[in-house]
Amino acid sequence: MEWLIKENIFDKDKIELNGNKFLIGNGYMGYRGTMEEFSKEQLVACNLSDLYDKVGDKWREPVNAPNGLLTRLYCNGELLSVLSSDIECHEQELNIRNSTHRRYTKFITSSGIKVEVKAERFLSLYNLHLICMKYSFKASEPCDILIETGIDGQVWDINGPHLINIETYKREDNCIFHAITNENKNSLAIAERIEIGFGSEVYDSNSYNSFREISSSIEADKEYTFVKYVSVFKDRDDVEDCVGVAIESNEAAVNLGYDKLLEVNKELWNQRWNDIDVEIEGDDYSQLALRYSIYHLMIIAPTHTDNTSIPARGLSGQVYKGAIFWDTEIFMLPFFLNTKPEIARNLLKYRCNTLDGARRKAADYGYRGAFYAWESQDTGDDACTYFNVTDVFTGRPMRTYFRDKQVHISADVAYAIWQYYLATGDESLLVEGGAETIIECARFFYSYGYFNMDKNRYEILDVTGPDEYHERVNNNAYTSIMVKYTLEAALACIELLKAKYEKEYINLNLEINFEQEIDNFKDMFEKLYIPTPDKETNIIEQFDGYERLENISLEKLKERIIDPNEYLGGGNGLATTTKILKQADVVLALNLFKDRYSEQVKKSNWEYYEPQTEHGSSLSACVYALLAADLGKVDWAYKYFLKTATIDLTGDSKQYVGTLYIGGTHPASNGGAWMTAVLGFGGVKASEGQITMSPKLPESWTFLKFRVVHYGQKYSIKITKDQITIKADNINHKCNEFVINGEKLICNPGQIIEIRY
Ligand code: BGC
Repeated sequence: MEWLIKENIFDKDKIELNGNKFLIGNGYMGYRGTMEEFSKEQLVACNLSDLYDKVGDKWREPVNAPNGLLTRLYCNGELLSVLSSDIECHEQELNIRNSTHRRYTKFITSSGIKVEVKAERFLSLYNLHLICMKYSFKASEPCDILIETGIDGQVWDINGPHLINIETYKREDNCIFHAITNENKNSLAIAERIEIGFGSEVYDSNSYNSFREISSSIEADKEYTFVKYVSVFKDRDDVEDCVGVAIESNEAAVNLGYDKLLEVNKELWNQRWNDIDVEIEGDDYSQLALRYSIYHLMIIAPTHTDNTSIPARGLSGQVYKGAIFWDTEIFMLPFFLNTKPEIARNLLKYRCNTLDGARRKAADYGYRGAFYAWESQDTGDDACTYFNVTDVFTGRPMRTYFRDKQVHISADVAYAIWQYYLATGDESLLVEGGAETIIECARFFYSYGYFNMDKNRYEILDVTGPDEYHERVNNNAYTSIMVKYTLEAALACIELLKAKYEKEYINLNLEINFEQEIDNFKDMFEKLYIPTPDKETNIIEQFDGYERLENISLEKLKERIIDPNEYLGGGNGLATTTKILKQADVVLALNLFKDRYSEQVKKSNWEYYEPQTEHGSSLSACVYALLAADLGKVDWAYKYFLKTATIDLTGDSKQYVGTLYIGGTHPASNGGAWMTAVLGFGGVKASEGQITMSPKLPESWTFLKFRVVHYGQKYSIKITKDQITIKADNINHKCNEFVINGEKLICNPGQIIEIRY
């Protein structure tokens, strides 16, 4: 039961939401949870990773592949569609254990014939280019049916159309759709093949579609089934003849057969779950929501490449330009780092691979080093526009400073790379670009920082912190804390390279001449101003002058709202002149650096900022949950856990900012759900060969069970209300140290230790 997401009725108003909710994916592509008869108006999309395109001066965004699953069934000439037909019953189901989507609909035609339609689909993990579907139907009376099935090239696009020079034809039993992208002329091919044992087929095509019409007279109460294979290839996959390989891929699928492919897929998903599952006993809803969050992280994980990372809306569409934000490093990475470090490595390697884009951005703004894109795509150049929000009142674009001033992005990247090293002990990433990236980020901050002669300190001025409602502020605590950490990591990295990788150290220095910066980094590290807790109140001021802003409750602020979609930040935003913040800012810094602040400071700041936070970003709730768990405020942590874990189940999130559509899935929240369960309630803190645990389970949870990998060693951990059981995998070859209740324990390979807490 904890693996199924279900809807038992068809609700037109939920088409968009269910497209996200029932998404399937394999990291190479995501396929929205829409019905087989739908088209672009219902936001059907097969969203591709690592293929972007720009049309004219519209926003650059990922390309949606033509829809190879399009299938329309006609009974005696009448189209059967949930959009227009009478329906006796309808079910939509997603099995998150193996990412399989199912629909069942019983249609009633105008002459009273009942036609049952069943369809099942999955994206293969075995061959990431392959989409498989099985479609069955049965009619209550003999009738003539027509099946229209093939590739629909009229895809949902926000800033398209992206495909030009379209060719549609049939080759070796495959419907083919080939096109190139508008900007970079990347080749994209879709081949569709069908296995069907009845009817007569006519191939048809036009400038958008490549499809077949299959007609047959059918008997009453007999089930008819056919299978479709769709293969998607692009030249960016290092493939020359995309059409040729797509045909071969379908041929291989036919040879294996649908059932075998499904079985293999299930097995591959089972293997995945072995490492990633988190079990909760005593709270079915939390269990489902948490697994669902983990599912979402895994369907978008780039297991196959380090050329791309995870966009803010995953593979659910083109929203947010399919761009990669800091969401990945700060909110999703911990899950991968603790369960699938090889995926974490890919995500970070992508940042190393796009370092030149970050250098270009820094240079563009007149700085040295690497200033990472606020919205990053394939090249690392910034896709974020200067006018990113449109004012709902005037219809005019608003100048926003996300791109120019959220400099913390470079620190987030550096922080994440160093965290990877601390959690895995793997130095190879540092050697293969990680160290260079961290050093270039530090160099950027040295050139960005301002040295205040009067105060003999460096300051980070004119920035926007995580709270985007307050742009262009001075000494934002989160940013400055992260900048300091970047300098610390850069210095540590340099030491490490010097001590262990002399040749690489010399080469890197020849390339980027960093030795001359070392003293600068040290000086800035020592003299960087970091807002500190007030002596009386313990409050860390979010930025200079925050305290002087209007003190208003969130409720009162909301009363001032005129349009539900109006933007609260920017020049005239309602929150701009008040203390209301969009999302966790100081609290995020305290959460990332839990061990560097006293409990009292963390508590005071949590209590101070919590009522002032709008949670206007889906990144916010989990941060409050995490720090609440750390502080033992378990009820609060639980409340925020549910908010973060259920976001894509309930669809309860902002859909518009200004006139900008921001719907889709929320991988950062999904990552936040995992973090809250394992790092928050499980109280796991892992660093440099040591895992500390101080669990605080919610009232209703009788146990929490999960896996972690640290320094390459894997453990199964079970936490009950008073006991922790740790089992080290037999194949471990090293021991990490566990610290529980201040007591140090070693868990040898294959050993089980139990300790009361
Ligand atoms: C948040 C950012 C986030 C972006 C993408 C914005 O609403 O304020 O912090 O990176 O959404 O998720």
